Amino acid sequence: MADADKRLAAEAAAAEVQDGMLIGLGTGSTAAFLIAALGRRVAAGLRIEAVATSDASAARARALGIAVLDFADVAMVDLTIDGADEIAPDLVAVKGAGGAMLREKAVAAASRRMVVIADAGKRVARLGAAKLPVEVLPFARASVLHRLERWAEWVEQRDGGAYRTDNGNLVADLHGWDSGDPARLAAALQAIPGVVGHGLFLTEVTAAYLARDGLVARVERDAASG
Ligand code: 5RP
Repeated sequence: MADADKRLAAEAAAAEVQDGMLIGLGTGSTAAFLIAALGRRVAAGLRIEAVATSDASAARARALGIAVLDFADVAMVDLTIDGADEIAPDLVAVKGAGGAMLREKAVAAASRRMVVIADAGKRVARLGAAKLPVEVLPFARASVLHRLERWAEWVEQRDGGAYRTDNGNLVADLHGWDSGDPARLAAALQAIPGVVGHGLFLTEVTAAYLARDGLVARVERDAASG
């Protein structure tokens, strides 16, 4: 059921994509449905270019005939469509279970709009149940892990420390993290030398397609916060 809803949300968002757009492609299983839907539209004649938030999504898109540019050469993206691990009614989100949160945030920040696609399992009244991934410079591993402990019940190195992001960094997953004031936490994480990114998306998401039991709802940030 979750997979069917992921597909529905992804296909609803894919319908927003128009000729000539530069699209940011998210990462994960829901984003994979998006890339598949865009691949079908490109095969049918849609003309788009894309940037990808992970090597895996770039490879998936190229295999389907989608032109993928190097994000290093791209200043602005028209629309980014990506999954999430948690999304609250005001469209704040947690991302990064797939480890791509730094590239996802860089692409989102360069995007005129960021649309999240998710199944009902990702909808929460407030953030805090999902682990919060933090991307850490390996050089600063021990000191960063020590400082992260202040903000969570426990901090776990992904894959026992063996995991590496596409940027060559490790990931610390925060469990039972301090979700009372996510903006304060985001600022505190960003201020730790050696933290290069984290999965709190507090301002980036402009809209979401959320699917439940075969029905898709579109939520806009303005409507959600107003
Ligand atoms: C990857 C992400 C994903 O978008 C998020 O983990 C959701 O993944 P899925 O669609 O597989 O549930 O943030 O870094």
